[in-house]
Amino acid sequence: MSSNRGVVYVKPGRVEVQKIDFPVFRNPAGNEIHHGVILKVVSTNICGSDQHMVRGRTTAPAGMVLGHEITGEVIEKGRDVEYLEIGDLVSVPFNVACGRCRTCREGHTDVCLHVNSERAGGAYGYVDLGGWIGGQAEYVMVPYADFNLLKFPDKAQAMEKIRDLTCLSDILPTGFHGAVTAKVGVGSTVYVAGAGPVGLAAAAAARILGAAAVLIGDMNKERLAHAKSVDFEPIDLTKHDRLGDLVAEVLGKPEVDCAIDCVGFEAKSEGADGKIVDAPAVVLNGLMEITRPAGAIGIPGLYVTDDPGAKDEAAKHGSLSLRLGLGWAKSHSLHTGQTPVLKYNRQLMQAILWDRLPIAKIVNVKVIKLDQAPDGYKSFDAGVASKFVIDPHGQLSKAA
Ligand SMILES: NC(=O)c1ccc[n+]([C@@H]2O[C@H](COP(=O)([O-])OP(=O)(O)OC[C@H]3O[C@@H](n4cnc5c(N)ncnc54)[C@H](O)[C@@H]3O)[C@@H](O)[C@H]2O)c1
Ligand SMILES: [Zn+2]
Ligand SMILES: [Zn+2]
Repeated sequence: MSSNRGVVYVKPGRVEVQKIDFPVFRNPAGNEIHHGVILKVVSTNICGSDQHMVRGRTTAPAGMVLGHEITGEVIEKGRDVEYLEIGDLVSVPFNVACGRCRTCREGHTDVCLHVNSERAGGAYGYVDLGGWIGGQAEYVMVPYADFNLLKFPDKAQAMEKIRDLTCLSDILPTGFHGAVTAKVGVGSTVYVAGAGPVGLAAAAAARILGAAAVLIGDMNKERLAHAKSVDFEPIDLTKHDRLGDLVAEVLGKPEVDCAIDCVGFEAKSEGADGKIVDAPAVVLNGLMEITRPAGAIGIPGLYVTDDPGAKDEAAKHGSLSLRLGLGWAKSHSLHTGQTPVLKYNRQLMQAILWDRLPIAKIVNVKVIKLDQAPDGYKSFDAGVASKFVIDPHGQLSKAA
C-alpha cells in the first residue's frame, strides 16, 4: 500500500499519470504534523481551475501533482485527530484551512492566514496556494482534518450518490457561493456567464434558491444544448447582438436582478469575423451592463495576479480594462475570491441526500479511470459538456 500514482503537470498542454510519493504527515515546509489524515481517494474531479495551469496561463511549476476536488476514505490518522475514524468517507473542501487564524474563525476559510507562506489562502495541487500536494491520485494527505473534513453520515448511502457528492469539494459550493453573493432569492431573474461545470452549478444553485428565470450564456453550442436539456435558458453569445438584447429576448427587458461570472480571466469574445479572441474584461463589463441598479454580481470565475499567456502587457499582470464606472453608477455590489467551501458543503450535502439537487445530471458527470486523466483534460479543454470525475480505485464503477 505504500505506492501511489497521480496526475502531474509536465508542461503547457501536457499532464501525465506518474508514480508519486505515498503521502506523509508533513506540511509543505517539511515539518511533521499530527492533525492530518491520509485518504484513499474515492473520487477526484478535473476542474476549469486546473485547466488555467495546464494551458500555461499561470506560473504553475512543472512536476506539480494536480487535484483539489477530492472525496476519500480515511485510512490513517495523526495522533491529534480526535473526531474522525479509520474508514470514514469524507468530502474534502478544496481550501486548505487551519481553523485557528483570524479569517478562518470568521468563516473565511478561502483566505486562511497560516497555510501558505506567500499569501492568504491554500489549496491542494494549485499554483501559489501553499504547495499542498494534489489529490488527483490514489492517496492524499489532508491537514487539520477534524476542521476541514465533512463526513458523510451513511457510507453505503453516500456511495449510491457519490457522483453527486463528489461535486461538494468545489463546484457545487462554488456555484452556490456565486448565487448567494449575487443575492439570488425567490423570484430573482439571473444571468450566469459560462456554461461549464461551475456555471451549471451556479444555475442549479440559483434554482434551488428560488430564482424565477435562470439564463446561461456561452459560445459553446454543445454546452448550451446541454444547459437547455437541464431546463436553463441558453443564451448563444455567437449571435452578434448586445448581451442586453439577448437577455431581453427571454425576459422582455435587457436587465437581470442578479449576475454570476463563471468564466474568469480566460474570457473570450467572438469578433464580427467569427474569430474567437481573448477578452479578459468582457464578462465583468457585460454583467455590469445588464445587472439592475442596486443589484449584485457574484464572481467565482478566477482572476489571476500573473498571466504569462496574456496577449497584452497589462493583462500579463492581471490588470483588466474594467468599466467600473458603470457598476459604480448603478451601486453594484461585486464579490470576488475563492469559495469558502465549509460555509456551504453540509447544507448542500443534505440537499443531495434528500434528492433535492441532482447535480451530477446537471453538470453531466463522466467517470474515468486514473489512466484516462490526460484524455479527460484534453476533452474538457476542447469544451465537451461534461464534468470529468476520476475513479482511481474503480470504486465508482463498482458502486454503479
Ligand atoms: N472561486 C472559486 O473558488 C472557484 C472554484 C472553482 C472554479 N473556479 C473558476 O470558475 C471558472 C469556471 O470553471 P469551469 O470548471 O466551469 O470552467 P470551464 O473552462 O469549463 O468553463 C468556462 C466556460 O466559459 C465559457 N466562456 C468563455 N468566454 C465567455 C464569455 N465571454 N461569456 C460566457 N461564457 C464564456 C467557455 O466557453 C466555457 O464553456 C474558472 O475560471 C475556474 O477557475 C473558481
Ligand atoms: Zn475546482
Ligand atoms: Zn486559518
